[in-house]
Amino acid sequence: MIILKNTVATFAQMKARGEKISMLTCYDYSTAKLQEAAGVNAILVGDSLGNVMLGLPDTLSVTMEDMITYGRSVARACHNTMVVIDMPFMSYQVSVEQAVMNAGRLMKEGRANAVKLEGGAAVCPQIKAITSAGIPVVAHLGLTPQAVNALGGNRVQGKSEAAAKRLIEDALAVQEAGAFALTLECIPAPLAKLITNKLDIPTIGIGAGAGCDGQILVYQDMLGLFSDYTPKFAKHFAELGQEMQNAFAAYVHEVQAGTFPAAEHTFNMNEDVMNKLY
Ligand code: KIV
Repeated sequence: MIILKNTVATFAQMKARGEKISMLTCYDYSTAKLQEAAGVNAILVGDSLGNVMLGLPDTLSVTMEDMITYGRSVARACHNTMVVIDMPFMSYQVSVEQAVMNAGRLMKEGRANAVKLEGGAAVCPQIKAITSAGIPVVAHLGLTPQAVNALGGNRVQGKSEAAAKRLIEDALAVQEAGAFALTLECIPAPLAKLITNKLDIPTIGIGAGAGCDGQILVYQDMLGLFSDYTPKFAKHFAELGQEMQNAFAAYVHEVQAGTFPAAEHTFNMNEDVMNKLY
């Protein structure tokens, strides 16, 4: 079976056909190869790498250099999978010019196929300018982790009538500005479904219910690899954290017992040569 590269056109076609889009976060070459082989449509090199790769309490300290380093290691593994790289905090908020420059760096140096940024009407000038430069943009609404301090914590968004109306207006605004997809994070499922039905572009939900056009999870969350906290929406599809810990412990045990390395893991040397060394 020939699998063609997933592009913005694939996303539009999948929405039109009612086919669900699968996305996962990823931050390294080896894991990206596995995700591509599994057939995910797109990988997000998320600034969540601040939490799950760097052990930071939030995403605020993640830099452009971080995103480029992790992004290009993922991109090297992806032949069919679309690679979206997150624009980190303060790489696009200050000015439209900076936003375009930094989006361009994620494409040129990070080898992204698209970039993602957080916010609604306030960042529409940036979305317009970046897309005008030929760079596809994924927008992100609802719980926007770069605004964690302004939101007063990582909490479900859009629950009141006013907040829900604002979210709908922002969703229409980012679509109008040129975004080709919209991430909806931590909003009530009925609201996500309503937004999905109102939009021509696909919605990708995380904690936003099954009514979205696609889903995304942080891969450490879905594999049981991240134990600092588990969001309600993060289903564990495997318990690899425990598996890995067991393997590490077995290694420690075998090293201590002297049973690793065994003969099959060892290089031999010609005895005559060896004798001359004594
Ligand atoms: O950075 C990230 O991983 C994200 C997803 C949670 C959508 O933005």
